[in-house]
Amino acid sequence: MIFHLRTYEPGDFETLYEIDQACYAPAIAYSRRDMREYLRFPGAECVVAETGAQVVGFCITARDAADGHIITLDVLEACRRQGVGSLLLAEAERRLAAGGVRKVSLETATDNTAAIAFWQKHGYRTSGVLKHYYPNGLDAWAMSKTIGMSSKPAKKGEAS
Ligand SMILES: CC(C)(COP(=O)(O)OP(=O)(O)OC[C@H]1O[C@@H](n2cnc3c(N)ncnc32)[C@H](O)[C@@H]1OP(=O)(O)O)[C@@H](O)C(=O)NCCC(=O)NCCS
Repeated sequence: MIFHLRTYEPGDFETLYEIDQACYAPAIAYSRRDMREYLRFPGAECVVAETGAQVVGFCITARDAADGHIITLDVLEACRRQGVGSLLLAEAERRLAAGGVRKVSLETATDNTAAIAFWQKHGYRTSGVLKHYYPNGLDAWAMSKTIGMSSKPAKKGEAS
C-alpha cells in the first residue's frame, strides 16, 4: 500500500476521533472534547496519513519554544507494521525541529509493548515513570529524545 501524508483539516475530526477510539482502551482514548482541545493547543500540529481517500493514522504534536510534545500517534490496526507510524513520526519531528524544538517528550502506558518498542526504535529513551498517569490507574513511561541537532561536519581542528 502507498501512504501519503498531509496536514489535518477540520473535516477529518470525526475520523480521527474514531481512529483514536479504535486504538486505545476506553479509559485511555480521548473524548471529542479532549481531542478538540489538543488540536487547539499552542503550537499544535496534526499530520494525517492516508491511503487513497482513507485516513489510516495521525499524529498530534504541540510545542513551546524548544520543547515539543507528542500528544498522540495512532495507526489503524489493519495498517500497522507497514511504516505508517514511522512516516508520521518523521514528519512530526521534522515540523517540530523546523519550529525550533530541540527536545521531544511523550508518555506511553507501561503495558503498551508495541509502542515502547516503536519509540525505542526511533531513539526515544525512558526518563521516568508517571504513577497512575491514566484514568484507569495505569502508569506511564515518560520518554524523550533530542532532535534537530546540527549535522554539519566538524571543522578542522575541532574534536569530532
Ligand atoms: C505504536 C504504533 C503507532 C506504531 O505504528 P506502526 O505503523 O505499526 O509502526 P511502524 O510500522 O512504523 O513500525 C516501526 C517499528 O516499530 C517497532 N514496532 C512497531 N510495532 C511493534 C510491535 N507490535 N511489536 C514490536 N515492535 C514494534 C518495530 O521495530 C517496527 O519496525 P519493523 O516493523 O521493521 O520491525 C501503532 O502500533 C499504534 O497506533 N498503536 C496504538 C496506539 C498507540 O499505542 N500509540 C502510541 C501511543 S504513545
